[in-house]
Amino acid sequence: MGTLDGRVAIITGAGRGIGREHALLFASEGAKVVVNDLGGSPDGTGADLSPAQSVVNEIIAAGGEAVANYDDVADWDGSQRLVNTAIETFGDLHVLVNNAGILRDRVVVNMTEQEWDSVIKVHLRGHFLPTKWAASYWREQAKSGVTVNASIINTTSTSGLMSNPGQTNYGAAKSGIATFTEICQKELTRYGVRCNAIAPAARTRLTATIPGSEERNAERETQAEELGFDKFDPANISPMVAYLATENCPIAGKVFFVYGGAIHLFQPWTIIDSIEADHRWTVAELQQQAAKWGAVTFDQSIPL
Ligand SMILES: NC(=O)c1ccc[n+]([C@@H]2O[C@H](COP(=O)([O-])OP(=O)(O)OC[C@H]3O[C@@H](n4cnc5c(N)ncnc54)[C@H](O)[C@@H]3O)[C@@H](O)[C@H]2O)c1
Repeated sequence: MGTLDGRVAIITGAGRGIGREHALLFASEGAKVVVNDLGGSPDGTGADLSPAQSVVNEIIAAGGEAVANYDDVADWDGSQRLVNTAIETFGDLHVLVNNAGILRDRVVVNMTEQEWDSVIKVHLRGHFLPTKWAASYWREQAKSGVTVNASIINTTSTSGLMSNPGQTNYGAAKSGIATFTEICQKELTRYGVRCNAIAPAARTRLTATIPGSEERNAERETQAEELGFDKFDPANISPMVAYLATENCPIAGKVFFVYGGAIHLFQPWTIIDSIEADHRWTVAELQQQAAKWGAVTFDQSIPL
């Protein structure tokens, strides 16, 4: 008996890295998996069918069920074909893991239009479109009297939630995905859909693009040998995602930071201090009363 027996899941960007680990774990837990990946390079250029196909081959060789899909998650028709692939191949859809992503890091003053647009497109539009088509399917089912028990798991990042310099495009998209998750939860709960997001940290080809990663990886390999546990193995992320996908999981509208053996729960934007007047503020009054916020600092350290 697997924890995901009978569940049909789409995992985007599942040809490599974290998504690949999700696909392998989901299949070993009994899910039927649509392995989506267009097979581009880390900056999103190019295409290659082999990463998605090789994950499907691996799942089938291990006795699981999977089908490949090579569509661009940020493409209107392609993302609809992706959702239809699950329904046409496996007869239903229960789980959507939005994971596909790219990076084009640059400080804001040097960022090009192309660098901004491509990253915003793959992440934000690439979360929106598969969600839209999957949610449309679940709404139709709910309206026709079927009891829907569906789960969407999105992929945000501490680069956004904790504001990493050099990544305004990626960070803005990833913070947007956290808010997208919260709003989707409020809209889709009526159809039986739960929405959550995870911010992972793991060694993949995306983190290999960060300056200094070679030295860090060498240090981490030594640590892993000493500990007997590789905290940066991308497979560490997948159990929480699989748990959020299970039929009886009670969690909805939450964002987690997942890394190694640690799972941290975020709280959404929260008001922590206020000033109030019974009239419209004057600038002079604000100079008196609002200046205190200049001294407020926030803890944005990432517990790695
Ligand atoms: N690795 C980390 O530490 C880390 C940290 C925070 C967030 N993330 C996020 O985790 C997710 C997975 O990243 P990863 O580190 O495994 O990177 P990765 O490059 O190993 O995997 C991403 C996969 O997405 C695919 N992809 C990219 N654009 C696509 C598109 N338009 N349509 C379909 N597939 C597409 C790529 O071909 C690739 O196989 C991303 O959303 C990333 O932003 C990763």
